[in-house]
Amino acid sequence: MQSLKTIAFFLLIAAATTSSQNTNTKCPFQFLYHFGDGISDIGNSVRVEPFGPLLPPTRDPYGVTFPGHPTGRWSDGRVDVDYVAEDVGLPNIIQYLSMNMSKSYDGIIFSVARSTALNTSFFDSRGIHIPPYDIPLATQLSWFRTYLQSNCTTQTECAKRQPSNSVVLFEFSELNDLGYALLQGKSIQEVTTYVPLLVDAQVNAAREVIKLGATRVVYTTAAPLGCYPYILTALSTNDTSAYDGLGCLKAVNNLALNFNENLLKAFLALQAEFPNLTIIGADYYLTVTAQITLKTVLGFGRENPALRSCCGIGGRYNYDDRRLCGSPDATVCPNPNDYIYWDGLHFTQQVYRAVIGIQVVPALLLLKCRLI
Ligand SMILES: *[C@@H]1O[C@H](CO)[C@@H](O)[C@H](O)[C@H]1NC(C)=O
Ligand SMILES: *[C@@H]1O[C@H](CO)[C@@H](O)[C@H](O)[C@H]1NC(C)=O
Ligand SMILES: *[C@@H]1O[C@H](CO)[C@@H](O)[C@H](O)[C@H]1NC(C)=O
Ligand SMILES: *[C@@H]1O[C@H](CO)[C@@H](O)[C@H](O)[C@H]1NC(C)=O
Repeated sequence: MQSLKTIAFFLLIAAATTSSQNTNTKCPFQFLYHFGDGISDIGNSVRVEPFGPLLPPTRDPYGVTFPGHPTGRWSDGRVDVDYVAEDVGLPNIIQYLSMNMSKSYDGIIFSVARSTALNTSFFDSRGIHIPPYDIPLATQLSWFRTYLQSNCTTQTECAKRQPSNSVVLFEFSELNDLGYALLQGKSIQEVTTYVPLLVDAQVNAAREVIKLGATRVVYTTAAPLGCYPYILTALSTNDTSAYDGLGCLKAVNNLALNFNENLLKAFLALQAEFPNLTIIGADYYLTVTAQITLKTVLGFGRENPALRSCCGIGGRYNYDDRRLCGSPDATVCPNPNDYIYWDGLHFTQQVYRAVIGIQVVPALLLLKCRLI
C-alpha cells in the first residue's frame, strides 16, 4: 500500500512537470556513484578478467541503436544510468574498471551486469552456480572504498568526488540473485527466504556509504522478474493459471513484489535512522508493467509477443541460453524500439528512457535541482 502511494505521488508530479530533457539542470551535487547490475552497467562486465572480454556485449548487434557499435552495455543502446546522468547534468560518467584511462569525470559506475547483491559464498553453499564475472555488492563496495582512498589529481577533483557532494544510487532491479536460483531448480518457497537477505545487503551497503559521508541515496525497486524472456523460457508450464493477464509468471512476479515491499520498508527505516538523509525510491515494477501493457495486443493467446526478445533465436520468447544475442545464428529485430526486451535478459533502451523519464523529474525536485 505504502509503495503504491509513493508511486502514485511520482506519477502525479511527473505528469505535472515538463521533462528536463534539452534543458540544463543545476543540482547541489557534482558526482554520481552507482552500484548495481545490468540496468546500470556501462562497461564493467566486459572488463572483468578473464571471461569478461568474451561476453556477448563485446559483439554486434549490441549497441546497434546507439552508438552503432558494441560499448559493453547489455543493450541496443544506452542503459538506465546514461539517462540519469544526463538528466542531472552530470553526463560524463565512467566505468570503474577503466577509470585510470580518464582524468576528469562526473561519476563512477561500479555496477556489473549479471551481478548479485549477495556474496558468491551464499550461492556456493546452496549449490547454485554463479558466473565467474559476478561482482557482488560487497565487492562493488570494496571498489568504492579503494576509489575513495586513491589519489586525486587536483583539489577541484578531490572536492568533487567527496561522498557528501554526490548522489549514490543502488539499483539491483534485475533480481539476478533470485533468477540464478530459480533457473537452477530452487523452489519459489526456498527463493522467498532469500528476499530479506537481499534487502539487508542493499540497506547495509547504503548505511556504509552514508557513514562515509553520503547524504543523498536513490534506490530502485525490482522489475517484474516473471516477465523476462529468460525466466518465461526456463519456467515454462502448461498450467495456464500460472500466468497473469500479460503472460507473465504470477508466482515469480509475487517474489519481486515481496522484495519491493520489504525494500521500501527498510529504506523508510533508514530514513528514520538518518533524518538528514535525502532518500528517494524510483519504481521499476509499475513503470515496466505499464510499458509491457502499452505494447500488448489483446487476445494474444498463450504467449504475449510483447515478451519476446528483440535479439535472440528460437523458442516462444526468441531466447535460447545456449545461443544468446551476439552469437552467430541469433537474429535481431528491425526496430528495437518496438520491443521491451533486448536480449532476453535486459531491456531495450526505449524502456530505460521511459522508466527514467517518468521517475527522474520528481527525483530532481526532491534532490533540489534547478532547471536553468
Ligand atoms: C589504477 O591504477 C592504479 C595504479 O597503477 C592501480 O593500483 C589500480 O588497480 C588501477 N585501478 C583500476 C580500477 O584499474
Ligand atoms: C560478503 O563478503 C564480505 C567480504 O568479502 C563480508 O564483509 C560481508 O559481510 C559479506 N556479506 C554478506 C551479506 O554475507
Ligand atoms: C506441455 O504439453 C505438451 C503437449 O501435451 C507436451 O509435449 C509438453 O512437454 C508440455 N510441457 C510442459 C512444460 O509440461
Ligand atoms: C542535520 O542537519 C542539521 C541542520 O543542517 C544539523 O544541525 C544536524 O546536526 C544534522 N544532524 C545529523 C544527525 O547529521
